[in-house]
Amino acid sequence: MSNGNMNLTLKVWRQSNSTAAGKMENYQLGGVSPDMSFLEMIDMLNEQIIRKGEDAIAFDHDCREGICGMCSMFINGEAHGPNRGVTTCQLHMRSFKDGDTIYIEPWRAEGFPVVKDLMVDRAAFDRIIQSGGFVSVNTSGRTMDANAIPIPKDDADKAFDAATCIGCGACVATCPNSSAMLFVSAKVSQFALLPQGHPERKERVLNMVKQMDEEGFGNCSNIGACEVQCPKNISIENIARMNREYLSASVKPEN
Ligand code: SF4
Ligand code: FES
Repeated sequence: MSNGNMNLTLKVWRQSNSTAAGKMENYQLGGVSPDMSFLEMIDMLNEQIIRKGEDAIAFDHDCREGICGMCSMFINGEAHGPNRGVTTCQLHMRSFKDGDTIYIEPWRAEGFPVVKDLMVDRAAFDRIIQSGGFVSVNTSGRTMDANAIPIPKDDADKAFDAATCIGCGACVATCPNSSAMLFVSAKVSQFALLPQGHPERKERVLNMVKQMDEEGFGNCSNIGACEVQCPKNISIENIARMNREYLSASVKPEN
């Protein structure tokens, strides 16, 4: 096309509520600029849908800059779309071409029930965090400044890498077992690698794994798809670390 804009066929999952049967709906959308983000393209489609008096497509989003983890969806069968290391909001339409057909679907996992259309309920992740994804800090007024505790550079780097997990759920959605181990292991590792996380180290891993299991997430079978589709490139090395943490926390000291 002369101005570089694209005409697209969009096949979007529509589901009116968590119990309704959903189905793919077809939409034609013209005038899509390659400079638009994927979410701006859905905004444009929604304007077209609203002008026709129909119900807009529900989808989650907040920061639109790769931080909040809300913009979770499958694009052509890939979590957050075809590019690696980016969220859906950071994906641009230049990654597609004129005439493309794009399939857009919500996460598919028992632990993430569909609320509406592309929006899923990820409260299971909140409950896992509530079970142990925190450090308790003494607020007596004599709390030591975190910067006053020396941390080996390698540990600090690994903890920081783990802390970049944004809780988007792509790892769960991508895993054939719907395992949440990449997410949980990132949260466990972030604290296990730092001295500030050590006082609650054992209860944390035991409680978070227990909650993960209760939420209906499956086991890790080392397929590695989670690491490939994670927009923050969280390493499965964290899963091995969590397994070590769990084993060590489960072993009862001999009397
Ligand atoms: S580990 Fe990656 S894919 Fe999983 S929730 Fe965190 S950022 Fe998302
Ligand atoms: S909208 Fe926040 S990460 Fe995409």
